[in-house]
Amino acid sequence: MIRLVYFGTVIFLSTVHLFQILPLKELEVSKILKNLPLNIAQNKLQIIPSRKDFEQAKLDLAKLIEKSRVGRDLTLIAGTVRLAFHDCVGEEHCDGCIEYTNPDNAGLDKIVQPIDNLYNNGYKGKMSRADFYALAAVVALTRSTADVKDKYQGLKNFKVGRKDCSTSPNENKPTILPKGSSGYKETFNYFKNEFGFNVKDTVALLGAHTLGRCYSKNSGYQGVWDNDIFNKLGSNPTKLASTSVLDNSYYDMFIKIVPWIQVDLKSGKKQWQEIFFPTPNDQISNTSKQHPILLNSDLVLSWEIEPKDKSGTSSCLLHPFITCKHSAGHKYAAEFAMNNALWLKAFTDVFNRMIEKNPYKLKAASTLK
Ligand code: HEM
Repeated sequence: MIRLVYFGTVIFLSTVHLFQILPLKELEVSKILKNLPLNIAQNKLQIIPSRKDFEQAKLDLAKLIEKSRVGRDLTLIAGTVRLAFHDCVGEEHCDGCIEYTNPDNAGLDKIVQPIDNLYNNGYKGKMSRADFYALAAVVALTRSTADVKDKYQGLKNFKVGRKDCSTSPNENKPTILPKGSSGYKETFNYFKNEFGFNVKDTVALLGAHTLGRCYSKNSGYQGVWDNDIFNKLGSNPTKLASTSVLDNSYYDMFIKIVPWIQVDLKSGKKQWQEIFFPTPNDQISNTSKQHPILLNSDLVLSWEIEPKDKSGTSSCLLHPFITCKHSAGHKYAAEFAMNNALWLKAFTDVFNRMIEKNPYKLKAASTLK
């Protein structure tokens, strides 16, 4: 045992020494790292991928996202964007680690599975898992605007060099995620404390909920945020569904359509649905017949809602009378609802800052050799 520890220490120290005395190219460093024991390669040193591996990873991830097609949805678009957010929460921020025992991460295991397979079989040692997760989301966001006028351009500013946590891909330190039942103060405070984001940043970032949906079995909420009625592409059968298209339709939901009411779900939680469709989605088995939803934490972008109890019962009403006051986020949400290009620019900027939240110095992927 003592000999093993001694041997490990010698390897580690001589590797560090090697890096100090030899002006190694990044490609060579990445080759050496590939052959090192996992704990050294993954955790002690920053892995900068070669240009070739980085470009190949983009192509492989794009193919994987395309393969996730279910009808008009590419489910990995929304899935990887949620994964990137959840990976960037917690003490070490974007660190290739998810706390799977946390109920707020429910469902992420299914999303991560094909991404981890690809990573483990082709990219381990060539780039960090944290870089791979962030890249997956950015490749997904690029695909999500392929059919619309305003394109997501975040990929060209992508940076690499995030380090993984020592237990990657599993996180064993508790992470605190925001709650759908949370009100105005808690939601905005969360993003201020976790990422240093101001009100405008937070309003812009939550536009990510234009993608994907809630599943009862994961979160206790059920339904999509915006459906094809809000989709700028309509329900064109040859194009992606609203749940896979990144646009500002999410903001239309609480700016243009006000009569939302809270409905009770079997999970004991509450979600907002339009007054015209008050049957809770979890009582409608055909998902295509379910209606758009908002959570408290979405509506607070426009309204000063505070929960009165644990299930999130709202302190004010939006129907039959509006007793809620507009929140500080409202003016930004209203601007974003009117101008897709303006929102996309703000979203791209804040999303990049979120996935760059990392204690280490990152390197622009555009400069890779
Ligand atoms: C107040 C903050 C937030 C709350 C309370 C929240 C809550 C939720 C909940 C409850 C779900 C449904 C999970 C399920 O049932 O499977 C969800 C999904 C999702 N969230 Fe958030 N979220 C927040 C912020 C964010 C942020 C900052 C992003 C990304 C930048 C994001 C991206 C997504 C995406 C894309 C989905 C859909 C996933 C899919 O369809 O697979 N969320 N969120």
